[in-house]
Amino acid sequence: GGQPIPPPITDTSLKLVVDKDHQWKPLRAGDQRGPCPGLNALASHGWLPRNGIVTPGEIVTAVQNGYNMEWKRAVLVTYAAFLVNGNHLTNLLSLGGMSWLTGHAPPPPALASGLNTHGTFEGDASLTRSDAFLGDNHSFNETLFQQLVDISNKVGGGKYNASAAAEVRFQRVQDSIARNPTFNFANPRFNTAFVEAVFPIVFFIDGRLRAAGETGLDLKVMRGFFEDHRMPKDFHRRGTAAHDYIPGFNNGSVNNFVADPNFMGTQTELVCALYEKFVNSTVALYPNPHGALRAALNQNLDNFYVAAEAHCDQIKPYN
Ligand code: HEM
Ligand code: MG
Repeated sequence: GGQPIPPPITDTSLKLVVDKDHQWKPLRAGDQRGPCPGLNALASHGWLPRNGIVTPGEIVTAVQNGYNMEWKRAVLVTYAAFLVNGNHLTNLLSLGGMSWLTGHAPPPPALASGLNTHGTFEGDASLTRSDAFLGDNHSFNETLFQQLVDISNKVGGGKYNASAAAEVRFQRVQDSIARNPTFNFANPRFNTAFVEAVFPIVFFIDGRLRAAGETGLDLKVMRGFFEDHRMPKDFHRRGTAAHDYIPGFNNGSVNNFVADPNFMGTQTELVCALYEKFVNSTVALYPNPHGALRAALNQNLDNFYVAAEAHCDQIKPYN
């Protein structure tokens, strides 16, 4: 059943991630990898179980250790995915497809079928993975990666930077509009698609380069993460989550920075809309849970809410 969230890590310095205990290893038969290059690479370097069968707590800790992802953001993304793709009875999730290693699943409509499951968390217009309707929604796609390389060469000076991300994001959506009659880019995919387009810039640039002012991701390094689940040889994570910032302005004098009330209003709605959406998806999967399953779902819904509570009213479908 559900377990409490592990606490934030305490050392958030810039440091070596690919140390001697976390070397890349090739896949063995049955190892699960899927649509997320960040988690795939953590598993192939042993920061997550190498077989790709993980608990949500392991993800929360691993994304902090490997990339210095901020704890609350990690909790939000992890429990969103776990609620819809995980097995609440065994507390296990496959980073890829359905696996017997996650244990006996609750009855349908529950899925518990891993991150590959289309239309729950995984969605359309991914950077390097095809739309489910058009093909394989979880494996690296060379054609799509070449489009990303071309765009990065054209507008990113040969790197995947913010300009390239914006253009790739746009092109992928246009492509799906033109070719995929089932294209879905509504909430929550609308949110996750934009976030994922900048993750490579935020997390895959070596911390030492970033500290020296680098703002673009080398395309060979990017291919390593996306195709081979592989970090560069001596990859260093970034230092403490780039000082969190909020949109705002100096209110008439220096050192008098205040939040822009209108912008924060919008921001709050987005987070809460995403929160509510995932709770509703969970209820659709588990319309009437009993006993241990109900208890586990309530624990994991509480865990998910930890990431939204500053902004949103809690929704308690099973109380
Ligand atoms: C995509 C899950 C953290 C980088 C995805 C997708 C899932 C997922 C399900 C597929 C969405 C789609 O493209 O259709 C998660 C979960 C995380 C997590 C549960 C828990 C914290 C991270 C981190 C990074 C990352 C820390 C970077 C270090 C990416 C990128 C994509 C992606 C770049 C887009 C891949 C593409 O569009 O080709 N993630 N992720 N993720 N994730 Fe993660
Ligand atoms: Mg996708």
